[in-house]
Amino acid sequence: MMGYNDALNIYNQKLEEKEFARIQDFMLNKLGVKLSPIKIVMVNSRLIKRLKASEIYNFPDYINYVFSFEGKRSGELQCMIDELTTHKTEFYRESEHFDFLKNIVLPEFFKNGKRNFSIWSAGSSTGEEAFTMGMILNDFKIFNAGFDFSILASDVSNAVVVKATEATYLEKNIATLAPNIVRRYFVSSKDVKDNTVQVVKLLKDKVKFSVLNLVDNYPYPNNSLDVIFCRNTLIYFEDKAKREVVNKLISKIKPGGYLFVGLSETVSQYSSEIKQVSPSVYKKIDRSNGL
Ligand SMILES: C[S@@+](CC[C@H](N)C(=O)[O-])C[C@H]1O[C@@H](n2cnc3c(N)ncnc32)[C@H](O)[C@@H]1O
Repeated sequence: MMGYNDALNIYNQKLEEKEFARIQDFMLNKLGVKLSPIKIVMVNSRLIKRLKASEIYNFPDYINYVFSFEGKRSGELQCMIDELTTHKTEFYRESEHFDFLKNIVLPEFFKNGKRNFSIWSAGSSTGEEAFTMGMILNDFKIFNAGFDFSILASDVSNAVVVKATEATYLEKNIATLAPNIVRRYFVSSKDVKDNTVQVVKLLKDKVKFSVLNLVDNYPYPNNSLDVIFCRNTLIYFEDKAKREVVNKLISKIKPGGYLFVGLSETVSQYSSEIKQVSPSVYKKIDRSNGL
């Protein structure tokens, strides 16, 4: 059992360069994520929590444990990944992308006689992006008979995937959404003291969440998805990993389908298979008709 003095002492632990280098190597080689030298301060403070939770009093012992067989088996390695990845997200984030989906992609898809639309939120964090897709797609379905859709959503962090699957959010997270969206797609708790809302079952059932590392292989056939959103995820990647992931994502998109990245990101330099059609929106070239 950790005593009072041990617990106090944990907050004074300092991550040394040698241990930080092991974490940098792991994050780069296993996740593609680059941790620059200045991130040592952030890593130090985020991992103090893990030292406390695993009752290990110093960084050298913690690092040996986390990378051991036991560290993997106990789930501590996954907890470290959860801490060291950045999960910031929100409903309708970078809303121009959802406007493009609604006003350009879906009408084009439907006009071409297609009916079953498939989309993937790659790097989905706690699910807000995937459920926003669900709202747009369900609205389109209401006005276009015969249209249907499926949503895949994945993240390398187990903790955020668990949260996304629960689909419970704080009321303040939906405060800026239009009242008619809130009314149709969220249910409030019956307990007035509870400040959370639930995504409606109709949408929850439409999104299939999974834990998936974008550096690994994807369990989807080539040319099988109409659209992939991989936004604000590749910004943390080192260039070589970014290039590889972008090309793997493109291989999963149908010719004529779309890849969306974050508004601050550009990926056209990584592939000649795509052309930019709007800020941070890329269309996979359909070689059969050149579009
Ligand atoms: C900042 S969030 C972006 C969420 C959402 N796409 C958005 O734009 O609001 C980035 C997510 O990428 C995930 N991530 C980081 N490295 C990853 C990897 N190698 N494979 C899959 N997901 C990864 C993180 O866990 C995090 O939840």
